[in-house]
Amino acid sequence: MHCFSRIGRNLYCEKVPLRALAERFGTPLYVYSQSTLEHHYQSLDAALHPLDHLVCYAVKANSNLAVLRTFANLGAGFDIVSHGELRRVLAAGGDPAKCVFAGVGKTEDEIEFALRNNICCFNVESEPELQRINQIAARLKKAAPVAIRVNPNVEAHTHAKITTGTYENKFGIALDHVLGVYDKADRLRHIRIRGVQMHIGSQITSEKPFVSAVKRMLPLVQVLKAGHHVEFFSVGGGIGIVYDPALESGKPQWWKSKQAKGVITADSYARALLPLLQPLGLRIVLEPGRFLVGNAGVLITRVQYIKQTANKRFVIVDAAMNDLIRPAFYDAYHEIVPLFSRPGSRFPADVVGPVCESGDYFAKQRPLPPVKEGDYLALMSAGAYGSVMASNYNSRPFPPEIMVKGRKVSIVRDRQPIEELWQHEHMAAWQKD
Ligand code: LLP
Repeated sequence: MHCFSRIGRNLYCEKVPLRALAERFGTPLYVYSQSTLEHHYQSLDAALHPLDHLVCYAVKANSNLAVLRTFANLGAGFDIVSHGELRRVLAAGGDPAKCVFAGVGKTEDEIEFALRNNICCFNVESEPELQRINQIAARLKKAAPVAIRVNPNVEAHTHAKITTGTYENKFGIALDHVLGVYDKADRLRHIRIRGVQMHIGSQITSEKPFVSAVKRMLPLVQVLKAGHHVEFFSVGGGIGIVYDPALESGKPQWWKSKQAKGVITADSYARALLPLLQPLGLRIVLEPGRFLVGNAGVLITRVQYIKQTANKRFVIVDAAMNDLIRPAFYDAYHEIVPLFSRPGSRFPADVVGPVCESGDYFAKQRPLPPVKEGDYLALMSAGAYGSVMASNYNSRPFPPEIMVKGRKVSIVRDRQPIEELWQHEHMAAWQKD
């Protein structure tokens, strides 16, 4: 579900026509729907109602302060992976006591800052990290709260670059090895064991990998509850979203079944996991990112040229791989729709950006409705891993970000001023005169 819909021939975000935003703020432009963010959080929260649970939004998916504030106001916790993300959560008014700190490479400074801010726990990914946290906590005369991230060696059936829960990956401590690490943790004076954690991957569109992973974890979790008094079990993030709405409706069943991937919802996820998790009697922590923000954002771009070659039609737009890298990096599918729909039949085209790389494309041979130079297009489902993965490649400034709520519009990130691109650069000392 999301609040982007067509009224007449115009695409709206909630009650605001997107074309008005494109004309007012220019393109490329990210637009987020606050009601969609709220709806997704509330649907997950409601589906998990039978459990004592905490939803820790994975900040990496979209770390705009207004997005973080939306979730903080709903009572969310946060899954952070760096000093910078913790600073953002604090700046947005989030509660550090609801922050879980993940990542395989936490530095001494990051650990110290998080300890001083009394976060909920460190999700520990290795024994050397555990030792380091213990030493820093000793220096600060504190007990560091930890959960150990377990690698359950489960195949998540998602893109290789976003699979994390197999022994091929750098993440977590192997399931068959982790009990010994808990025993060691217990003997460390400045470590306080609070939980156990797993995360198997991202954009998982079936409940099955979650169920397999939780089933593998259950015996361990029960032992940890009895022997180490863990308070919570974090089942990580990874719930997938619908990038191609043809999966949800409008296409016949045979077409849907040809698609490798299905649709997962808050309810289907909860229905699959509740029977396994409820009997544990533990608090359940979740770390969803994409599920909460993915379909709540679009990237608006303007058609610069239509280039017809002997082989192909290229629709050249003013957004590029530096603004949204997912198609280039993961071959990801993003639906592309015009903000104003013209009548006429579809025609296959490559939608490409201006960056000097062949990988700079948003779609290949996509049957597009009629578009002309100057038209605006929306790249749908760009709320997660969109703006956060943007770069200044080709010296292109970061696009602005807009939050919409009903009829209200607010700019939540300014377009990056062009001078800022070299603001922190200098001529070498000997070049100055
Ligand atoms: N927890 C941990 C430990 C994670 O590593 C991640 C994502 C999450 C939670 C949140 O996962 P989500 O619910 O958003 O699937 N840039 C890629 C996705 C990378 C995901 C990294 N870890 C993409 O654009 O598809």
